[in-house]
Amino acid sequence: MPGPGVGTLYSMSTLVTGATGIVGSRVLTQLRSRGLSATGASRTSTTRLDWTDTSNWDEILDGVENVFVVTPPGKALGNRVAGFLERAAKAGAANAVVLTDMGTEHAPADSDQRAAELQAKDLFDRWTVLRSNWLFQDFTEGMFATMARSRNGRLELPVKKKTGISFVDARDVADAAVAALLGDHGGRDYTLTGPQTLTFREVVKQTRGTESPVWKFKSLDRGSFHSRAADRGMSDRYVGSLSERFAAADAGRAAEVTEGVYEALRREPIPLARFVREAVL
Ligand SMILES: NC(=O)c1ccc[n+]([C@@H]2O[C@H](COP(=O)([O-])OP(=O)(O)OC[C@H]3O[C@@H](n4cnc5c(N)ncnc54)[C@H](OP(=O)(O)O)[C@@H]3O)[C@@H](O)[C@H]2O)c1
Repeated sequence: MPGPGVGTLYSMSTLVTGATGIVGSRVLTQLRSRGLSATGASRTSTTRLDWTDTSNWDEILDGVENVFVVTPPGKALGNRVAGFLERAAKAGAANAVVLTDMGTEHAPADSDQRAAELQAKDLFDRWTVLRSNWLFQDFTEGMFATMARSRNGRLELPVKKKTGISFVDARDVADAAVAALLGDHGGRDYTLTGPQTLTFREVVKQTRGTESPVWKFKSLDRGSFHSRAADRGMSDRYVGSLSERFAAADAGRAAEVTEGVYEALRREPIPLARFVREAVL
């Protein structure tokens, strides 16, 4: 199916969910820097969107043609994100770009993330599914940074020392999302990884001294991780979902280096060395 013409693109309105997050904020910035009409939405954005409160969804979706939808893992939202996509399609949106986790194609059809992927494929003329691996930016501005700050720089996770992960730069994920929102990536799934498989120790060693607060990686058993996370106020369900993702990584399911970034963007993914160069304090 041909993509929309440039004139059409500039009048298109895009709704970016997860707009205060690592990826969503970059997607929003990019769209706006191109002079495109884009609205960011989340619980703390000016346009308030809460996955657990459907009351203003029709208002938010009025006049929206493109939607970028993030699917928070481990929150047991009861397929609210899929419900949001249904409302978006009914409101006339034509293009949905859905961001989930690497491996979501193997998740049960009724899981929040897989249900959102399937809904986008079912309901939209144009859809793109982006499945991302863990981000480099988790060490500087995301969950790993938060965890390390509360443990004097120690990042303690239930992941084996030798487990490899093909971490990806959030800029590649955001670029792929913007390309899918603006161009014709319709009807494709992309698994987005970086160009190398790295252990947590390797990433910590290289990012030390940058804006990352992580100074040391320690492998924890699942029980200790669970009790520390509970002390930090994380819900059982969220910790359970994190533990599952780390177990998947230990089983080698986050190690593969894919062609996804190249296929989506026709350029190589950003390597850790460049992320480190550009994340200096
Ligand atoms: N970070 C990673 O390593 C990673 C790895 C693989 C896949 N992904 C995928 O990428 C997506 C985005 O990741 P990210 O790292 O950019 O996320 P993030 O930085 O954790 O941000 C999450 C976003 O979701 C919003 N949010 C949280 N709870 C919400 C709720 N109940 N209702 C509405 N909005 C809510 C947050 O804003 P408010 O607090 O303002 O609501 C924030 O904008 C994830 O959902 C996941 O599917 C991420």
